Amino acid sequence: VPAVGTSTVKRGFWSSRMAFILAATGSAVGLGNIWKFPYITGENGGGAFVLVYLLCIAIIGIPIMMAEVLIGRRGGHSPINSMRTLARNAKLTPRWVWLAGMGVFASFVILSFYSVIGGWATSYVLTAASGQLSGQSADAIGAMFSGLLGDPVRLLIWHSLFMGLTMLVVARGLRGGLERSVTILMPALFILLLIMVGYASTTGHFGEAARFLFQPDFSRLTTQGVLIALGHAFFTLSLGIGVMMAYGSYLQQDISIARTSVTVSVLDTVVALLAGMAIFPIVFANGLEPGSGPGLIFQTLPLAFAQMPWGSVFGTVFFVLLVFAAWTSAISLLEPIVEWLEELDGMNRVTSTLLAGGLCWLLGIASILSLNAWSGFTPLAMFPLFEGKTIFDLLDYLTANVLLPLGGLTVAVFAGWFLKRAMLEEELALPQPWFGLWYSVLRYISPVAVAIVFVYNLV
Ligand code: PHE
Ligand code: NA
Repeated sequence: VPAVGTSTVKRGFWSSRMAFILAATGSAVGLGNIWKFPYITGENGGGAFVLVYLLCIAIIGIPIMMAEVLIGRRGGHSPINSMRTLARNAKLTPRWVWLAGMGVFASFVILSFYSVIGGWATSYVLTAASGQLSGQSADAIGAMFSGLLGDPVRLLIWHSLFMGLTMLVVARGLRGGLERSVTILMPALFILLLIMVGYASTTGHFGEAARFLFQPDFSRLTTQGVLIALGHAFFTLSLGIGVMMAYGSYLQQDISIARTSVTVSVLDTVVALLAGMAIFPIVFANGLEPGSGPGLIFQTLPLAFAQMPWGSVFGTVFFVLLVFAAWTSAISLLEPIVEWLEELDGMNRVTSTLLAGGLCWLLGIASILSLNAWSGFTPLAMFPLFEGKTIFDLLDYLTANVLLPLGGLTVAVFAGWFLKRAMLEEELALPQPWFGLWYSVLRYISPVAVAIVFVYNLV
């Protein structure tokens, strides 16, 4: 991948369709699938929530991912300059560029807490490798996790390590090597998840978990749950923020945007569902609480590693792969901020990485303190929607459920209503009826669905 910032020249391309899929999957598959999906599913009652989430992926996520990749490829620049070029070509106001600016802001906020959770995962590599998990009871494992959350210094060390690793790659532009390693590590993560699902099926609570995940009980679904499912569809596919736009700008002209977007979305969804099938049998077998929140995977998977043969080995490998998956996502969050600084100020890459990463790291400290010293500090508690939410909860909630859907909505409106149909047809090169289907979904269904969910949650 060539240096960015020289945005007036036509840039290099991904070497193949595969390279794009790897980079986009590296961004998509991360903590969102393995950490966040199971815990929000547990908190929102299971099956009905999962169904809404799957619908959101299919009718909102995939069409918007296609639009983002299309805008990126057609614009051929970083998100901000792609939006500027396309708006200019279509004789629209340059204000559309604000959309990309909002994406940079959202990336910044997400990365700040993403790195804290990445730090938890990194610390569990050590916990598993040192054999501390073997033979432990559910209570002991729960206590280990609470011990970590209660210790701001340890959290800060792991957060710093994770952020440092992310900055290192971005500063040195090592993306190429990283994409190649995705070819090995993603399939490895997939296999390990299958092994975990296999282990989970021996707990005797597999059926219960499958019913929990796939048998919709709509009485347990709230309007807020629908918003969370929608927000998570954006979060998990890395949408609404410009990441897919940036990656699309490297995509060769003869590669199908539709096929690649569907591939990435399916891979991402499969990883999330496997994580759910690995975790919930353990939850039920040990009488744990599905709705116990962000700690869910750190209280359940270690329990499996404590009990299964070769648990320390599997545990170590699993957490290494989880850290790797989180790392490729974190890199995709930091990259656009750094590119933006480079373009804005002509700052060099190392300086902009230090600045952007340093500020994210600093904001991350607020999330760390939310887990201990500030755990009682709920700044927006006067609004019923935000009751009991700490700074960490708020940053997570507001980015995933407000900023990303708003970003996605704007992309849908921009592509569906403001860009020329002929241009879209040319870029997607889809046979009928597929083009017409995508076009109507993007114009009517996706924006209206997002708007309805928003309005319902406000009133
Ligand atoms: N999709 C990533 C995950 O599921 C998170 C992410 C969101 C990455 C937005 C980039 C942009 O973990
Ligand atoms: Na994801």
